[in-house]
Amino acid sequence: MSLLDKIKNHEARVVVIGAGYVGLPLSVEVARSGFRVTAFDKIEGKCKTIMAGKSYIKDVSDAELAPLVQEGKLSATADPKVMAEADVIIICVPTPLNKTKDPDNSYIVDAAAQIVPRLHKNQLIILESTTFPGFTREILLPQLESTGLEAGKDFFLAFSPERVDPGNAKFHTKNTPKVVGGTTPACLEAVRTMYGEVMEKIVPVSSTDAAEMVKLLENTFRSVNIGLVNEVAIMCGKLGLDTWEVIEAAATKPFGFMPFYPGPGLGGHCIPVDPHYLSWKLKTLKYNARFIELAGEINSHMPEVVVERVQHALNERRIPVNGARILLLGVAYKRDIEDVRESPALDIIALLHERGAHVSFHDPYVERLTTETGKPMASVPLARLDDYECVVIVTDHSSIDYGKVVAESKLLVDTRNATKNLRRDYPGRVVPL
Ligand SMILES: NC(=O)c1ccc[n+]([C@@H]2O[C@H](COP(=O)([O-])OP(=O)(O)OC[C@H]3O[C@@H](n4cnc5c(N)ncnc54)[C@H](O)[C@@H]3O)[C@@H](O)[C@H]2O)c1
Repeated sequence: MSLLDKIKNHEARVVVIGAGYVGLPLSVEVARSGFRVTAFDKIEGKCKTIMAGKSYIKDVSDAELAPLVQEGKLSATADPKVMAEADVIIICVPTPLNKTKDPDNSYIVDAAAQIVPRLHKNQLIILESTTFPGFTREILLPQLESTGLEAGKDFFLAFSPERVDPGNAKFHTKNTPKVVGGTTPACLEAVRTMYGEVMEKIVPVSSTDAAEMVKLLENTFRSVNIGLVNEVAIMCGKLGLDTWEVIEAAATKPFGFMPFYPGPGLGGHCIPVDPHYLSWKLKTLKYNARFIELAGEINSHMPEVVVERVQHALNERRIPVNGARILLLGVAYKRDIEDVRESPALDIIALLHERGAHVSFHDPYVERLTTETGKPMASVPLARLDDYECVVIVTDHSSIDYGKVVAESKLLVDTRNATKNLRRDYPGRVVPL
């Protein structure tokens, strides 16, 4: 039977490499569409948790996961041999930056090295991990073709950027349009057919390079616009204006304006990282991606802006930061999720520690974290807020009662506009970003 027939009959065996924020929800969605899926992750503990029907990703509930495992539609293993039987292999491994902020594609290269001895005819390999334009063609393709098999003829290779937005209740894997690009027209046909069985809308583009660039445009667009609005917040601070009031009024324009909101800095695995993949690639072509660099500079400076606001507000009350008790409210990089990767809260904690503050945090989703200096910290209860000289809202989780927070805090620095309709009742107590 041809690969396309196996996909259309849902008889194709699917292996997803990397059962993380991207790979686990994708595995669940593919299994729900009627395919037998194995999540392959090098961390055995994750595989055992999946096999016990338990999810460690907030967007995937145990109620969704457990029946798929029980029915044998979804399994997990740390044994790469499972790839030998796969018809479709989807790579969802991390693509971080190294210490010099250059792309670290070693996880994809390692995953491909595990595929190579098991690559066989009629297999479809799809890369989902964000990477620079040209990676699939220049690095992954030769690695897979080193087997003597040819893409488009013997096996199929495609790039399809993951667009998952953790914590988004409206858009998830199935109803988010899926961009796909193939190495050859036959590769494009294979990936279109596969994802056409799983997602509601497929958006084909002409090449893997174009599909890679789509993802980087999306995330660079966000980074640059957030950089702009963060600078507007700095300017409004200097002008004595309320940034939020200005943005909300501007957003009433029914055309030509799209609101973005300032914050304490960027976090997560995507927006602070991905634009650097693009600027790095352009540097190899002797071009300096100026918007990306400038937005990165402004966004990564925001934790300092927040700490300056704290310092200034305490100073007005004749309180030194050195020795002050400060509570960070929310440390996840965004609302209603548990992810602290690249969270600006980590920078804010480090900057406050440097100034001698006693820092605590409360986050309903994050029990503990490790500071940049390796110090473990545990979430404290959200109580006795008047024990703190200052409370700083870093993440605006929707389960927090901000009315209570404003009423009980002596001084509140609000970086998210969580106290929008509350602060006028407490003049002088809340410092918005
Ligand atoms: N998290 C997001 O919101 C998001 C959104 C869109 C795109 N992405 C992109 O998706 C990719 C994956 O991100 P993530 O957030 O899911 O990462 P993650 O760290 O949550 O998950 C990656 C998983 O891959 C496993 N892994 C790494 N190397 C492996 C190997 N060789 N074999 C088997 N397992 C391996 C790790 O153990 C981990 O469980 C990245 O390129 C990221 O940029 C992430």
